[in-house]
Amino acid sequence: MPLSQDELKARVGRAAIDYVRPGTVIGVGTGSTVAHFIAALGAMPERIAAAVSSSERSTAALRALGIDVLDANDVEHLDVYVDGADEVDPSGYLIKGGGGALTREKIVAALAQRFVCIVDASKAVPVLGAFPLPVEVVPMAEASVRRRFAGGVLGTSGDAVLRLASDGTPYVTDNGQHILDVHGLRIADPVAFESAVNDIPGVVTVGVFAHQKADVCLLGTADGVRTIT
Ligand code: 5RP
Repeated sequence: MPLSQDELKARVGRAAIDYVRPGTVIGVGTGSTVAHFIAALGAMPERIAAAVSSSERSTAALRALGIDVLDANDVEHLDVYVDGADEVDPSGYLIKGGGGALTREKIVAALAQRFVCIVDASKAVPVLGAFPLPVEVVPMAEASVRRRFAGGVLGTSGDAVLRLASDGTPYVTDNGQHILDVHGLRIADPVAFESAVNDIPGVVTVGVFAHQKADVCLLGTADGVRTIT
């Protein structure tokens, strides 16, 4: 019987504990894969000192396990940042933000010495872009940012769709902004593309993590956990 996607996520969530040193302050991302990692953190015999979290959701889960959560402003650097992704390419470049936490994720990742990405095998792609790219935007810039993607950024164009919440109103991030999900891109040069999108007025954060790519990627497969560095 093949393992389910959730069982593969649980495998990598547990495997990431090998990169966590007891007594240190670590960064914790957001999502269903990270939820397994948080559960494994709670089961460590020797606990971490504290965490910096990338979302209200992860903060609540960490605190429920008795793990102290610090404000990012009170921390100079983190030993490691552990987070999931929506796509990972062979170089460790990522698309993130499916869960809407991309801005805080980028801030916390930037504080860390090492970024350990945990994904199930379905997230591995040869070229980024099949997953609709999340872009957090200031609401008054939505239409202009949408036009920029329609016209093309570094040779690839896409259809930017406003993300909606379950009640049909615009999804609002933890930072009070909106998200455009851009369909149909093919991101050949993630580093240049991330910089180009960052330069568009009104863009808060683009979900391409190339300047802060994964240092280690743990890929959950039916045959076990594969490590890509
Ligand atoms: C949240 C993210 C998540 O890491 C990404 O969406 C993957 O989520 P999951 O582990 O639930 O598949 O970037 O903003």
